[in-house]
Amino acid sequence: MAKITFMTQGNIPVVVEGESGSVMALAVENNVAGIDGDCGGVCSCATCHVHVAQEQYALVGEASEIEKDMLELDDDANEYSRLCCQINITPALDGLVLTVAG
Ligand code: FES
Repeated sequence: MAKITFMTQGNIPVVVEGESGSVMALAVENNVAGIDGDCGGVCSCATCHVHVAQEQYALVGEASEIEKDMLELDDDANEYSRLCCQINITPALDGLVLTVAG
């Protein structure tokens, strides 16, 4: 079980909990504002873009090449950007804070 906090627009925290699956799916299930997951998680829409807190970036790790290519098209991308459909929920993510991009 991992408890993940999404910082949504206006800095409003939304705390969700999940066991498995992608972080994007968890966000969509819980109606986290700003995470749409339009492509269903196949890394082709960037509507699941989040910024990982710098000190927690190692927890989620680097984006894949395909993911980096997608992020390059997004003006809000920075070095701590991830597409959260590409992050699988594991107990190690407990306490993770993600800021919804855009
Ligand atoms: S849901 Fe489309 S890129 Fe993540």
